[in-house]
Amino acid sequence: MVNVLFVCLGNICRSPTAEGVFRALVEREGLSDQVTVDSAGVGSWHIGSPPDDRAQATAKQRGIDLSKQRGRQAKADDFERFDYVIAMDSQNHGDLARMCPKGGKARLYKFLEFAPQLGLSDVPDPYYGGDGGFDAVFDMIEAASAGLLADIRANHL
Ligand code: 4NP
Repeated sequence: MVNVLFVCLGNICRSPTAEGVFRALVEREGLSDQVTVDSAGVGSWHIGSPPDDRAQATAKQRGIDLSKQRGRQAKADDFERFDYVIAMDSQNHGDLARMCPKGGKARLYKFLEFAPQLGLSDVPDPYYGGDGGFDAVFDMIEAASAGLLADIRANHL
C-alpha cells in the first residue's frame, strides 16, 4: 500500500482539491486497492469543515466531488503513516519540516516537484484571491497529480 497525504495551510482549498483530483486519478487507473489518499492542514481553524465553496464549485465543474471531505490538522504521526507527505507551498513545507520526526524528511515533498514543466515552486493560496485563482490552482494540481502517479509507479508499484 502506498499512502499519500496532501497538506496546505487551511485544508479547505488546495489540499482538499488535491485529495479529490488525485483520488479520482487513482480510481480511473484502477489503483484504489494500492494507493490511499488523504489531506490535512498545518493550521487548526478548519478542523471538521467541508472544503471552501469556491474550491468545491471549481472541482464540481471538472467532475470532482469534494463535498464529503472534512478538514483535519497535520500531525507528527502523519510521517509514520504516509509514504508521501506533500506540501502545497514553501511555507507549508517549512512548517512540516519542523514538525517532522527524525528520519521522516525523505517522505516530505513539495507538490510542484512532480510538475517541473510548470517552472513553479508553489501552488499559490487562493483563499484571499478571486475565483480565477481556483481554476489556476486546479490546473496545477492536475498536472502535478499526473507526475506524482508516475513517481509512485516508478518507485513503489
Ligand atoms: P488553503 O487556503 O491552505 O489552500 O486551504 C487557506 C484557507 C484558509 C486559511 C488560509 C489558507 N485561513 O487562514 O483560514
